[in-house]
Amino acid sequence: MSQLPNRVPAPTWWQLLTWIADPIKFQDRYHQRYGDIFTMNLGRLGGYVVIGEPKLIQEIFSQDSKFEIGRGNVLAQPLIGRNSLMLMDGDRHKRERKLLMPSFHGERLQAYATQICAIADQIASQWHVGQPFVVRSTMQKISLELILQVVFGLSEGERYQQLKPLLTEWLDMTDSPLRSSLLFLKFLQKDWGAWSPWSQMKQRQRQVHQLLQDEISDRKNQGDAGRIDVLSLMMAARDEQGNAMTDEELRDELITLLFAGHETVATSLSWAFYEIHRQPHILEKLLVELESFGATPSVGAIAPQEDLLRIAQLPYLSAVCQETLRMYPVLPVIFPRITKAPVTLAGRSFDAETVLMPSIYLVHYREDLYPHPHEFKPERFLERQYAPSEYFPFGGGVRRCLGYALAQLEMKLVLATVVSRYRLELLETKPVKMQRRGFTLAPKGGVRMAIIGKR
Ligand code: HEM
Repeated sequence: MSQLPNRVPAPTWWQLLTWIADPIKFQDRYHQRYGDIFTMNLGRLGGYVVIGEPKLIQEIFSQDSKFEIGRGNVLAQPLIGRNSLMLMDGDRHKRERKLLMPSFHGERLQAYATQICAIADQIASQWHVGQPFVVRSTMQKISLELILQVVFGLSEGERYQQLKPLLTEWLDMTDSPLRSSLLFLKFLQKDWGAWSPWSQMKQRQRQVHQLLQDEISDRKNQGDAGRIDVLSLMMAARDEQGNAMTDEELRDELITLLFAGHETVATSLSWAFYEIHRQPHILEKLLVELESFGATPSVGAIAPQEDLLRIAQLPYLSAVCQETLRMYPVLPVIFPRITKAPVTLAGRSFDAETVLMPSIYLVHYREDLYPHPHEFKPERFLERQYAPSEYFPFGGGVRRCLGYALAQLEMKLVLATVVSRYRLELLETKPVKMQRRGFTLAPKGGVRMAIIGKR
């Protein structure tokens, strides 16, 4: 039997509550005490070996077959459903990824460039000079609109109009550490009358399910010849026995993509706006780069797709986005990896059923990789290349985020569209902190800004 490394000695109930309340503080505290590897115990949720050592993480990423990963995501099941890609393992997971991958890469991805700018343009055009706004909510409108278009190929209609606020309300139900505890504490997941948080959550979920089911049924009845959205792709797919995906499977996958695909991008964009307006020289440099490309002020829907794709290659713009994802990991840790059998990785032995949890946060704040890690410095990414185990905002190995290319394209084009058209002012007077939002980390208060003019 191998010993679990550096077990956190505090009572398990205390560890669980601290992990829910502030996973950053938790990691800082025990990283200081134990270094790059320690084991937390979250009571009924079990023990997790938290890892901030790139050498070990590299071995985890390169030996995927030694782990079960879907099973480790079971906490998310009440939200995303049991047929979600995130909960799958082995051949089923491989097949499902192969089916979904083309929608988020290559030519399909490139075609989204114009859509991204058009949506950003349209939502920003509703702003008024002097009007304060919460960046995260606005960015969420943009990213939700895009993911709905990509996944359903829809941008209008009653059902679509109903779905948008409903999804946002549903996700907002876990918008603070306290409200997020609903996802971690099983005893809260009980229906204690219509006004209890869990029954509210379930009620919204049922409404979302009904709307998705109606859409699936309509598509079946009307046929969807010529459509290239993700839903059509899934509906046309057949397994080896010639069976189509069931309605429940379609629905769970739709919810997974809606969930994973828009909150994350909205949060990252909010941090990017925050940082570039906190340090005006960064914004200046970005504008100079965009201007030298000739991107101002017509980055929006008018620019041809090739130009937009070239904008997305601009080095400083890319570095700003990379640095944002370094400093503000949307997920503090990646999906847990459960060892199938005893295994030795980077000289450390682990028993079967050990849950390994590489920490994006711990690695992204390593002094040896990122000197002065608390400073936002896009130049790091111009001066040095990082290995996949040194920089992994999108995770790694077979589970690497399905939407990483879309997320980056979207971040770059929304930033470019907005900063080349509008002058914004940061209204935050104190540093904004990362705060738990469901399974993710988001800026506390969402980052308040105001439009001060057009360029
Ligand atoms: C800035 C935005 C995003 C960030 C930071 C992010 C981050 C991540 C991370 C860390 C993982 C876990 C990977 C691992 O454990 O190795 C993941 C998985 C996933 N992401 Fe993203 N993501 C983002 C945007 C998106 C978008 C736009 C989509 C939509 C298409 C998406 C869909 C997924 C899916 C489906 C998985 C599960 C993959 C699997 O289980 O095989 N994500 N993401």
